[in-house]
Amino acid sequence: MYICSCHAVTDGQIKKAVEDGTKTFRQLCRELRCCTQCGICARYAKEVFDEAKAKQKTSESEEPEDTDSE
Ligand code: FES
Repeated sequence: MYICSCHAVTDGQIKKAVEDGTKTFRQLCRELRCCTQCGICARYAKEVFDEAKAKQKTSESEEPEDTDSE
């Protein structure tokens, strides 16, 4: 789904950017150029970004623990 119509940025691109290590929303906007023209997409882009970040944190904390304690 297109989030930013000015620069044809999709939610998939935003999620991928987070997976690839984009740390801040500002960095995301710089990399994908979303929110840099009319700004209408900012709210939605931030929602997708925050959601992807939260998901990333959840999956990191679900990593199996080291069970080598004998
Ligand atoms: S819709 Fe993203 S900057 Fe215009």
